[in-house]
Amino acid sequence: MIVAIDGPAGAGKSTVARMVADSRGWTYIDTGAMYRAVTLLALEQDIALDDEEELGQLAGNAEIGFKPGSEGVPRVFAGCREVTADIRRQDVTHSVSQVSAHPEVRRAMLEKQRRLLESGDTVVDGRDIGTVVCPGADVKIYLTATVAERAGRRRLELEEKGDAISQEQMEREIRERDEYDSSRRVAPLKAADDAVVIDTTEMNIDQVVAAVTEIIDKAQEGAAG
Ligand code: DC
Repeated sequence: MIVAIDGPAGAGKSTVARMVADSRGWTYIDTGAMYRAVTLLALEQDIALDDEEELGQLAGNAEIGFKPGSEGVPRVFAGCREVTADIRRQDVTHSVSQVSAHPEVRRAMLEKQRRLLESGDTVVDGRDIGTVVCPGADVKIYLTATVAERAGRRRLELEEKGDAISQEQMEREIRERDEYDSSRRVAPLKAADDAVVIDTTEMNIDQVVAAVTEIIDKAQEGAAG
């Protein structure tokens, strides 16, 4: 079974996807981490963020892989180098929307993502999974929340890593990223017509996991019966 979880930054996709996959012993694929890995390599190799051809080649040649880590958090690799921590750097976060908007980059990632999805029961999160990467997914969920709530969650995450940022600045960054991800020409962020939309603004993570679990259970019952 393939469970697609899409939504904007800070909606809780990766935490929920990870917990759901972990509880069932399924594979979890974080497609945002793949775009982040390409962006990290581009920054390190001084490739201009508007050079679609170079970025497309880089994305095509990058060997991005996952290995299980502690508490279900996947370790991310570019070739044999582990990039799990580096892809969460602020400079990567600031550049990833621009890199991921290039059609050539998306084409290369799409191929890799579809290959990864061949491995069986999987929970996969991103922006375009239910619409483009896997339109035939068995379950499609679109998680969202208000900008203020998502900014608050991201700030907490950063604080835990020792980075402080004001609520105002974080809201501005989230809005910018939403705008970039939703308005790009190819595979923009949007809910698939047949996705179940869950607004998580007033929910804690356990409530969201319970809601998603119920949807998957129903889909499995439907498939079995
Ligand atoms: O989920 P995240 O914040 O780690 O994603 C980083 C960026 O990658 C996000 O701003 C948009 C892009 N992305 C995408 O374009 N398509 C996906 N399927 C996943 C992420």
